[in-house]
Amino acid sequence: MQFFKIATLSDLAPGRAKAFEVNGKTIAVFNVDGQFYAIDDACPHRGASLAASIAKNGKVFCSWHLFDFDLKTGACGAIPDFPVQTYELKVEGTEIFVLC
Ligand code: FES
Repeated sequence: MQFFKIATLSDLAPGRAKAFEVNGKTIAVFNVDGQFYAIDDACPHRGASLAASIAKNGKVFCSWHLFDFDLKTGACGAIPDFPVQTYELKVEGTEIFVLC
């Protein structure tokens, strides 16, 4: 694994999320009040885009069936056996990198 540049700070205003293609994966990055989180974009249930879903109170709620995923740990509150993959992020200057 290595860090890949995935975006710049201007790509993701606070409260926004976006999916990025990196190293063969589609990763959803969320900006929650200036704190960034990265998880697999595809919901582990049926594959809905989590970047296109609603993030609130540190969780993202899948837009298809409303399973909730903790943005920090990936844990699924609705069904514990359905965690989503999380990724380590780092910000250097104005650039966001993800470890994958
Ligand atoms: S596809 Fe996400 S909860 Fe069903």
